[in-house]
Amino acid sequence: MTYKNKHFYIEKISAEKLAKKFGTPSYIYSYNSLKNNIKNFKNHFRSFKPTICFSVKSNSNLRLLNLISKFGLGADVVSKGELLKALKAKIKPEKIVFSGVGKSIEELKFAIKKKIFLINVESENEIIEIEKIAKKNKKKIDIGIRLNPDTDANTLKEISTGKKENKFGLTKKKFLYLVDKYKYSNFINIICLSVHIGSQITSHTPYKKMLDIVDRTIKDSRYKFSYIDLGGGMGIQYKKNGNKLNYKKYSSLIKSFLKKNKVKIIFEPGRSIIGNAGFLLTKIIYIKQTNTRNFIILDSAMNDMMRPALYKAEHMILPSKLSKNKINRRHEFVGPICETTDKFLTTLKYQKLNQNDILIICDVGAYGMVLSSNYNLRPKPPEILVNKKNSKIITKREKLISII
Ligand SMILES: Cc1ncc(COP(=O)(O)O)c(C=O)c1O
Repeated sequence: MTYKNKHFYIEKISAEKLAKKFGTPSYIYSYNSLKNNIKNFKNHFRSFKPTICFSVKSNSNLRLLNLISKFGLGADVVSKGELLKALKAKIKPEKIVFSGVGKSIEELKFAIKKKIFLINVESENEIIEIEKIAKKNKKKIDIGIRLNPDTDANTLKEISTGKKENKFGLTKKKFLYLVDKYKYSNFINIICLSVHIGSQITSHTPYKKMLDIVDRTIKDSRYKFSYIDLGGGMGIQYKKNGNKLNYKKYSSLIKSFLKKNKVKIIFEPGRSIIGNAGFLLTKIIYIKQTNTRNFIILDSAMNDMMRPALYKAEHMILPSKLSKNKINRRHEFVGPICETTDKFLTTLKYQKLNQNDILIICDVGAYGMVLSSNYNLRPKPPEILVNKKNSKIITKREKLISII
């Protein structure tokens, strides 16, 4: 993804050409970015060969899930819907983990029926329900128990999950109590300790704290876990000079951990696999100049990509065609939705823009399309997969008639 002769290209097709062919707003994914992200992720951790379960919540496009499966990953799901989608994408049940604080009894029954790899439980009630289902089916069910390590992930507070005030996981005390209570159960087989402290983590330090706590918890439990599920959360670079996770450091922390603990590692990455492989193409509808700023009114909005409105996430917005003509003025890139939070980005200078110009909102592959809605009765955008010179629709643009 780079500029060639001042035009922005996704693989070998210019953003302008894609916008012309598929219209705007449109999600565009780069096949080769996805492929490389998976290859790099595997390489970083190759010395201990983890089981990698892609976090379907970050992107649940069927075609992309199918590719992810072909590239060797399993799935981390948080609902029956995601489980069905993962199976439909031909991800094998034995490569699927089920996470989440509120799995319904129906969802648990379904997951057990499908013989998935692992259910990561987050409360004693959930273990009780699994035990009931197991007794009825005369089975022993493999589970993981999620520990809340009370560790600050140093990320946006809205995407932190490992602090004691967060709803996720169990305190160390409760965790140890449950391991002790169920370790000789005929129906529950505790095989895993799971943790996930948050998303978009750009420093290895929170992971170090997390691993230290996991290590102590294992020791205190005096129990032999087969797996440790370290969740996802690996941060990507959203801004030009922004931070991203140093994988070398994270990997060596895990290697030291594994010297002390003979276990297999599971990861549940989402953003780091698909985040930077996705782009949202958008067109400028109007430019409105006020006394203090230029409002760049786009044809995409918070219903298409919600992260900025939801937790003030910042995504780079690039012009499809570069010009040297810079304007030193506050620019606010907004959508047409009737909400003040329908704003993507504020910049203090930008190149001169015109009505109908095409812009690219970057790094929207994760938590982009999955969070889209029909708010203001706007149809959802299409999803397009680009591989070198080829492009094809993998989700059609929603028809207005179908939502009216
Ligand atoms: C339990 C769990 N696993 C994995 C993920 C994926 O995280 P990320 O996309 O940051 O890798 C999440 C996301 O919040 C999660 O809650």
